[in-house]
Amino acid sequence: MTDIKNIFQTICVHEGEDYERFGGGVTPPIFENSLFSFPSYEDIDDAYAGKSNRYIYTRGLNPTVEILEKKITALEGTEATKVMASGMAAITSAIMTVLKEGDHVIAVRNLYSPAHQFLTDYLGQKFSVETTYVDGRNVDEIAEAIRPNTSIIYLESPTSLNFHLQDLREVSRLAKENEITTIIDNSYSTPYYQRPFEFGVDLIVHSGTKYLNGHSDVVVGVVTGRKELVARIQQFEQALFGGIIGPFEAWLVIRGLRTLGLRMERHTKSALKIANFLEQHPKVTRVNYPGLESFPQKDLADRQMTGWGGLLSFEVEGDQDGIKNMINKLQYFSIGVSWGGYESLVSHPNISLKHNFTIEQMEEWDLSPNLIRIFVGLEDAEVLIQDLTQGLEEL
Ligand SMILES: Cc1ncc(COP(=O)(O)O)c(C=O)c1O
Repeated sequence: MTDIKNIFQTICVHEGEDYERFGGGVTPPIFENSLFSFPSYEDIDDAYAGKSNRYIYTRGLNPTVEILEKKITALEGTEATKVMASGMAAITSAIMTVLKEGDHVIAVRNLYSPAHQFLTDYLGQKFSVETTYVDGRNVDEIAEAIRPNTSIIYLESPTSLNFHLQDLREVSRLAKENEITTIIDNSYSTPYYQRPFEFGVDLIVHSGTKYLNGHSDVVVGVVTGRKELVARIQQFEQALFGGIIGPFEAWLVIRGLRTLGLRMERHTKSALKIANFLEQHPKVTRVNYPGLESFPQKDLADRQMTGWGGLLSFEVEGDQDGIKNMINKLQYFSIGVSWGGYESLVSHPNISLKHNFTIEQMEEWDLSPNLIRIFVGLEDAEVLIQDLTQGLEEL
């Protein structure tokens, strides 16, 4: 595993930039234009023939977006990147570019629920794609689920409610042996803490809405990985479905990226303090955070991740009313979904889980109605601990 922390911030600041190209400006211009004109018939003819690097149309490529894509390719250590309209645009494009009608997919349980919906409710019903959900902590279970028509193993490591990990090296090896494409949602770790391409994963997707942008003001997705797959996405899913990001949003993400490493360090430092505090609290029965010594897959976490970030969950004693009162009492943890911005957040997954899962299914998926998820933002850790202390009194 390569730890690139010593060059990460340099990549964020410099990769893809060319000050002289834009009159010495240290931030790139926002190319807020839909098309690029050509001085002559011969020039546009050359551009279409791939004989020049001129931009043609922003749905295909835009100079501001291109700078962002170059940075992400360097940060993830991949071969090519497309930035898209949302994390879901990236996830659905990555899956669609690989799948054929009638294929079989293996996906981890507890994956981000709209991805689950896309596989089961949309592809399953419309295109006869079958998905088998496995406990991704167990490579043997993944191996046993492989069929002759399996084309994708879809991973999310860690998962974003209870942080189950998959062994990326082992799963990638298994997939390659069986000519299966691997896709991972790497939103939790970002390339600062985990670079799945090194372990052999083919495509990496992100909800860049989270840490990559980091300021809760843009919805954006990323797909990065092997160049032939990314080129196919550019040619088909991006160009034909058209789910692109606008140049202004790309520029905001470039700005967000410049502090990614610094923010991740701060999130981790505070979250680790808070996870340790929660572990000692008498009303807390379990804390899920890969940075804790008690984390059940700590060895694997240390082998494939170099840090953990600000997202963690915990289970509490008490009834649903107590949990409601606790959440309402918190002052600095805003009630909301998502994560990865500067602000601390709290959510109670049971609000949506109770509509889709029985208690038995929740147990099977290692989820509890008493699970609370928090995102530790950039506020001071001691202030957040005081806030949690007074909130937990409501239980
Ligand atoms: C783990 C994970 N993946 C993907 C997504 C989807 O990203 P977006 O909201 O940018 O479409 C989310 C959004 O919450 C997420 O939490």
